[in-house]
Amino acid sequence: MEVIIQPTPEDCAAIGGRMVRALLDRKANAVLGLATGSTPVPLYQELVRLRREEGLDFSGVTSFNLDEYVGLPGDHPCSYRFFMQQQLFNNINIRPERTHVPNGLAVDIKAECNAYESAIQAVGGIDLQVLGLGSDGHIAFNEPGSSLGSRTRIKTLTRKTREDNARFFDSFDEVPQHCITMGVGTIMECRKLLLFAFGEAKAEIIAKAVEGPITSMVPASALQLHQNVKILVDEAAGSRLQQLDYYKEVFTKKPDWQRAGANDDA
Ligand code: GLP
Repeated sequence: MEVIIQPTPEDCAAIGGRMVRALLDRKANAVLGLATGSTPVPLYQELVRLRREEGLDFSGVTSFNLDEYVGLPGDHPCSYRFFMQQQLFNNINIRPERTHVPNGLAVDIKAECNAYESAIQAVGGIDLQVLGLGSDGHIAFNEPGSSLGSRTRIKTLTRKTREDNARFFDSFDEVPQHCITMGVGTIMECRKLLLFAFGEAKAEIIAKAVEGPITSMVPASALQLHQNVKILVDEAAGSRLQQLDYYKEVFTKKPDWQRAGANDDA
């Protein structure tokens, strides 16, 4: 696990963007795992910039999003499909048929979840998965108590998560009760994980996820068992890490080419 602390979210996004570029340079048909919420927005802005200003080519890329609300159609402004179209897909040259977001309107949700897992397997797995962090420690929508071996499935959202996400809806009551989400086990099979967290409100949960015990009560703590994880946080989100100074020292002692994000495996 490598913890990278940067002054601002935009600095974190710049490093994330370089990691995506390094991946696409060596594997044009890479499989990206994508996240929603406020946190990945600076990264998506950076990817759009890399496309427009530096010609980064997404034409061979396949993507899988982590989750979707049950009951919302893809053209609903609060659906994660809609979010991805607006924030990223409409602004880069990814092929629409290669973008995958769980279908929140699926009649047979179990079949939809199984098909999602199979589709990930069929393209050889996810090379790089972007993650945010819920204030209760969830990754994707794996709420506290989720099995650390879980696969894509339906989950009931906690009241806390629905309150957190109510800002995107007209009212709390409009926030769906259920979602389809990749499992913790699904995420753990991705070859590389980039978890972003920004702001003071994430400081305590980042410290628990990175330095606390591995527990299903903080699903993000499972990432401690993954071989290739980067935790990218701004100063505010990193402020409660016990080993803050050490993480900074590690980063400053890295060779320039690694610090630039070109290294895919450190
Ligand atoms: C939602 C998403 C998560 C995301 C989390 C954090 O619950 N399902 O994938 O990480 O929100 O959201 P934000 O980035 O807006 O703080």
